[in-house]
Amino acid sequence: MPNADAEVTSLVEKFKATYHVEPLLIKSPGRINLIGDHTDYNEGFVMPAAIDKHLLLAIGTSAEKYSTLYSLKYNETVKIDSQHLADKTTTHWSDYMIGVLKQLSASGYQTKPFHCMVGGDLPSGAGLSSSAALECGFAFALDQLNQWRITSTDIIKLSQKAEHEWIGVRCGIMDQFTNMMGKKNHALVLDCRSLEQHYFPLELSDYTILLCDTGVKHSLASSAYNQRRIECETGVSILTQSGTDLKSLRDVTFAMLEASRDKLEPTIYNRCAFVLAENKRVLDGSKNLEQGDVKAFGRKMFESHEGLSKLYDVSCAELDFLVEKAKDFRGIIGSRMMGGGFGGVTISLIAKDEVENFLSLVTPLYLTAFGLELKSYIVRPMDGTAVVES
Ligand code: GLA
Repeated sequence: MPNADAEVTSLVEKFKATYHVEPLLIKSPGRINLIGDHTDYNEGFVMPAAIDKHLLLAIGTSAEKYSTLYSLKYNETVKIDSQHLADKTTTHWSDYMIGVLKQLSASGYQTKPFHCMVGGDLPSGAGLSSSAALECGFAFALDQLNQWRITSTDIIKLSQKAEHEWIGVRCGIMDQFTNMMGKKNHALVLDCRSLEQHYFPLELSDYTILLCDTGVKHSLASSAYNQRRIECETGVSILTQSGTDLKSLRDVTFAMLEASRDKLEPTIYNRCAFVLAENKRVLDGSKNLEQGDVKAFGRKMFESHEGLSKLYDVSCAELDFLVEKAKDFRGIIGSRMMGGGFGGVTISLIAKDEVENFLSLVTPLYLTAFGLELKSYIVRPMDGTAVVES
């Protein structure tokens, strides 16, 4: 793995050799979520942080009429005319960037022709929000290049809209928000209804954050994610029939849900029950962390996984396996699947001096059980998307 500076230098050199202009460089991070999944689109609470795995975007003006997008990972260039963008997605990495260009142009921002190269060490499809990193990073890069001065909130919202309208995933706001607003050494509790945020220093005493990557690629666009959202909306509309005006599951209490239990199909009831409990775990969990009770917080992570797996049904055999192994391991105090689910990573709080022991135990077991190589990352909270000063 190249060190951060070497990575930056090599992208800049490649850019200059290819396009003969000095680029602007943008760092756009992935994110973790300590607790609170599938709550954001229900106007609930989440506890994410941006991390020290990121995309790097080099951008500069093109002397031609056309623009180019280049991915280092795929070693592939896509030539585009930003005035005449495709009218269909192509299930390609460039879709996320085209979606952003479309949103910008719908808001009256026409970019000058540009070249943009994307590199970095953020794995894609692992639940670390590489799509939001690409959307927000690219919108931010274009804003810098064109000097539009779009606000962070607008970048967050237009990137989310690109995901909804172009990619077809009706995601919440957590990923885009965290990408832009992350703060080094801090996590945040975000109220996804008001967008009010509370940053706090992430102090985990003797523990560190370990991500274990199942290697199973989740496809959020595959209808399961949108289906969960519809199930929650169905729950809200049935609960509304009992006379209370409800906007989202955020307005529903445990008592209201229990009172209407016989009106809800078991699946819908389970989805709603999970979301209510998960919101409470975020709020209670943030108190645990504030009081330095990392172990109590860790227990909530296990509960969160149980709910995501049994009630919300967004886990998979590989994720369940890794969380079970984590539960049996003395040095881990909390573990859960993270993000949209159906694959991707688990997040665990593990004693710093037990990381090697855990990985050497679980890696061969995982290989035997699923025939897959287990990848892992230790991650730390980092700042949100920003220009890399040279
Ligand atoms: C994906 C979505 C987010 C959020 C998570 C689950 O990452 O993009 O908006 O819903 O899944 O918490």
